[in-house]
Amino acid sequence: MSSIPRSLSQSGVGLRLPHIEEAVAARPNAGWFEVHPENFLANPHATELLQELARSYPIAIHTVGLSVGSASGLDRRHLARVRSLVDRIDPVLVSGHLAWSTHQGEYLNDLLPLPYTAETLAVVTRHLQEVQDGLGRPFLLENPSCYLGFTGSTMTEVQFLSELVDRSGCQLLCDVSNVCLSAHNMGYDAVAYLEGLPAHAVRELHLGGFTAEEDDSRPGHAVLIDTHSTRVAETAWDLYTHAVARFGATPTLIEWDNEIPSLGTLLEEAARADQIAQRTLSRESAHALTR
Ligand SMILES: [Fe+2]
Repeated sequence: MSSIPRSLSQSGVGLRLPHIEEAVAARPNAGWFEVHPENFLANPHATELLQELARSYPIAIHTVGLSVGSASGLDRRHLARVRSLVDRIDPVLVSGHLAWSTHQGEYLNDLLPLPYTAETLAVVTRHLQEVQDGLGRPFLLENPSCYLGFTGSTMTEVQFLSELVDRSGCQLLCDVSNVCLSAHNMGYDAVAYLEGLPAHAVRELHLGGFTAEEDDSRPGHAVLIDTHSTRVAETAWDLYTHAVARFGATPTLIEWDNEIPSLGTLLEEAARADQIAQRTLSRESAHALTR
């Protein structure tokens, strides 16, 4: 068993159930792991393995079921379940999505989009405050992958996220692949999006694979789908360079949720993130010295 100290300064990987026994037995060279609490809430054996792993690695919790954007209120029972796992694991980061997935007790297995209006802002702000009070710690909010906008939106996504940071005290998880994908699908400038985010609030970066599919509404055009089923695209790696230059050294995670490859493949992607981050940070500090 390795006694190498792990840290958030080395990229981590999203740990899914097929790899958890291997991770506990082999102690792979990952800086940290991020898990979905929903995989553990009804699985005591997996939770015991996760607790064992937490003795050697920083663990982050990334919830997919809180539904902070739900107009009918937060799922408080789910929040309490997540809190119980947080208490057992003591994660280094806790995050979730700017999305809604529940309505009046019905759970929809998707992360659905929100119009960016004053009314939505008030609802999400209230829910984020409730989440942070319920968890007893800051919550990182992740930018969504976008396929459509709302004609009723009165602010951009960057403005909306910045307002949420100011009003709720939440922090941000910038999914670089989501920015890349959304910029393509929605027709905006991905680098300008990164430049607009409040850098002080960005505490984590995600990189995940997406897939190009024919856009039925625009023949000859591709729509990028957030499949998390493939390696990180070259365009997302390029944007990651901008993200590191903009936000500095930031805990980075490789996500892969479908057609899950070997743990070794995930670690290769994490190593590539480390190489890019180190190269970018060295270049930025060299530029700072010559200024
Ligand atoms: Fe993500």
